[in-house]
Amino acid sequence: MRLTDCHNFHDFRTLARKRLPSPIYNYIDGAADDETTKARNTAAFDDVDLVPNVLRGVQDVDLSVTVMGQKLDLPVYCSPTALQRLFHHDGERAVAAAAEKFGTMFGVSSLGTVSIEELRRKHKTPQVYQFYFHRDRALNRAMMDRAKAAGVEVMMLTVDSITGGNRERDKRTGFSIPFRLNARGIAQFVLKPAWGLNYVTHEKFALPQLDEHVDMGGGTASIGQYFTEMLDPTMNWDDVAEMVQQWGGPFCLKGVMAPEDALRAADIGCSAVILSNHGGRQLDGSVSAFDQLAEVVQAAGDRIEVLMDGGVTRGTHVLKALSLGAKAVGLGRYYLLPLAAAGQPGVERALGLMKDELTRNMRLMGRARVADLSPDNLRMR
Ligand SMILES: Cc1cc2nc3c(=O)[nH]c(=O)nc-3n(C[C@H](O)[C@H](O)[C@H](O)COP(=O)(O)O)c2cc1C
Repeated sequence: MRLTDCHNFHDFRTLARKRLPSPIYNYIDGAADDETTKARNTAAFDDVDLVPNVLRGVQDVDLSVTVMGQKLDLPVYCSPTALQRLFHHDGERAVAAAAEKFGTMFGVSSLGTVSIEELRRKHKTPQVYQFYFHRDRALNRAMMDRAKAAGVEVMMLTVDSITGGNRERDKRTGFSIPFRLNARGIAQFVLKPAWGLNYVTHEKFALPQLDEHVDMGGGTASIGQYFTEMLDPTMNWDDVAEMVQQWGGPFCLKGVMAPEDALRAADIGCSAVILSNHGGRQLDGSVSAFDQLAEVVQAAGDRIEVLMDGGVTRGTHVLKALSLGAKAVGLGRYYLLPLAAAGQPGVERALGLMKDELTRNMRLMGRARVADLSPDNLRMR
């Protein structure tokens, strides 16, 4: 199977599975507990149908949106994800370059493997810095100052991860950072020598957003330890209000689900909330973002921008979310598995297919602009 055989998300997933050691594939593909939330994230879109209008003469389609003051050519962006150079040796470099090619925003995780400075220097499209809240307040300030100095446009605080989710696939495969593999896991790495060769012959694995500030024990501290020991589970609205003030620019919360939390985010000056359950990787049994979207938009949509992510694998999923009032839609595994399958060309092909689907389906819907979509063109089953 080659990249040109990939025509949708499922094909990329198959190719990534062939190329990656099983612990890494399962780290990306897996979710918390029974993975019911992950499954619902995608299934939710099927409970709503699109109602097209005909004979509207749609020639050109404008897919651009403006979110948090950033103009994007597409209504989708690459949501921040950890450890990308583990999935493909070009990691964040590939994702940022592909996002720039399509004129959209890319997120860089606190657990990213390329520095926010390098990516900001090389690429023009808006960059998000995804941030976790540490016990050490001075560290939080230092990391925000660093992001500001780098020229990052948007600060995104992830609020659904005050403790790590229960990823049982990782327990079975022995996945951890740094690698502590059980015998089955090691065998998997041996079975995928091309990945192994690329991994050892490219730049050494690093977490540059953290390395400067946090002692990851020279590689002996695990990500699990980072979550339990460094992050602050007591983080509250007052803490975040202070951060919003300090940042003084577009600031959003990722992982909000309740309408009252969206209103509270507006009260403390956030520019946006992202409805998200972290791709089902945190609280299994959590509502899906799409199921929650209409209620949150109705409650808070006139006071704060509402975005969403989770389970998006098709252009029609995006059109349904935009119709319900999402200002933009985040992609996670949709671009990560193509990254793992084929690096930058993989991400570009995935974004290209998404753009084609969006354009074609907007025409079929009889809509020329994103703003022409509304709940009126949806029917609940
Ligand atoms: C492998 C992987 C790593 C992720 N790392 C982060 C992270 O470091 N910070 C964060 O806020 N979200 C992280 N996410 C969540 C994504 O930003 C996004 O919310 C989620 O993937 C959306 O669901 P989807 O994968 O079904 O599109 C990660 C997701 C995956 C799959």
